[in-house]
Amino acid sequence: MKRLKVGIIGCGNISGVHADAVRKSQRAELAAVVDIVEERAKRAGEKYQCPYFTDYRDISNIGLDLVHICTPHYLHHSMAIDMMEAGLDVLVEKPLAVNTAEAEKMLRTAEKTGRKLGIVYQNRFNENALAVRRIIDEKRYGRILGIKGVLTWFRDKAYYQQDQWRGFYKTEGGGVLISQAIHTLDLLCWFAGDVEAVKGSIDTRVLEEIIEVEDTAEAVIYFKNGVTGLFYASNCFASNSPVEIDIVFEKASLKLIGDRFLLKDYGEEIYRQDGKKTEYKSYWGQGHERLIEGFYSDILEGREGNIIRAEEGLKTLQVIEGIYSSSRSGEKYFLAELH
Ligand SMILES: NC(=O)c1ccc[n+]([C@@H]2O[C@H](COP(=O)([O-])OP(=O)(O)OC[C@H]3O[C@@H](n4cnc5c(N)ncnc54)[C@H](O)[C@@H]3O)[C@@H](O)[C@H]2O)c1
Repeated sequence: MKRLKVGIIGCGNISGVHADAVRKSQRAELAAVVDIVEERAKRAGEKYQCPYFTDYRDISNIGLDLVHICTPHYLHHSMAIDMMEAGLDVLVEKPLAVNTAEAEKMLRTAEKTGRKLGIVYQNRFNENALAVRRIIDEKRYGRILGIKGVLTWFRDKAYYQQDQWRGFYKTEGGGVLISQAIHTLDLLCWFAGDVEAVKGSIDTRVLEEIIEVEDTAEAVIYFKNGVTGLFYASNCFASNSPVEIDIVFEKASLKLIGDRFLLKDYGEEIYRQDGKKTEYKSYWGQGHERLIEGFYSDILEGREGNIIRAEEGLKTLQVIEGIYSSSRSGEKYFLAELH
């Protein structure tokens, strides 16, 4: 079987998860790593025994098939476009971009170049999320009547000061919404469907001296199918509590708590699945490896059965921008139709 030649751009926190997944894959090999900080690039190159670079443009013509973009948010847009125009497929860490305008340009480039552009929403590949998706697809408990997502995590001054790009709209694109709760928003939309409108608010309640982005956000999400969703996220808690998602169906209710799963047939617990320990941060979930392997198999088999397409990343950014707009106006905000 042909093995895809993969480059990783950005050798920070999350890059190790990507590098491990590439190296475990039978479908790919790690052929280059890039970081603008030479020491980080060199360290990664030595660890993974592959060439290292400090300018990502230098890997556009060394025979790679695809790149994983693991850099600060404001760079996703230009790096993805440059790489697609150089003929490479691209897997972008979340968020797709810092705003919908940039995300739309990325989608247009994917269409124009015919390259695959995937987004890392790895929590869709967690066991409990896959189980929920099956329940929804099989219509086992009837229609969804309501859905709720709650994230309460801990991000302090030290977290924001470790990297200069965090905490500012221009470079991070937002706060708790775009960096931490984006996976929760994605799961709410994956389970409940496309969003028609949002009414919500944001605030910076604890770190207002340190960051310009929000540390707290809440919203009602109005889905096109008539379902109403509730959403709350804050980085002001004392620890990273497991994310909670509740779904009320016609004939049962269901709760995800972190990587656990609880299904209640109106009061009686009928199924439970306990999560497994992971070697990375528990709140990153267990999905990166499956998502990456799925992306590779789609490329090799010339199909799109596993990839989480960039459109999904754009949809979540629309919801986030909708919450910002609604927070400013105090009004319900209707999302633009995607074409
Ligand atoms: N899916 C998840 O659960 C998850 C978890 C953590 C981070 N992430 C995402 O991964 C991305 C990276 O996050 P991180 O925590 O690893 O950040 P980080 O700051 O630790 O790492 C980013 C790296 O990019 C490098 N870099 C900056 N500019 C560059 C350039 N021009 N060329 C090459 N390298 C450059 C930096 O030197 C740094 O090493 C972000 O999009 C973040 O949201 C996703």
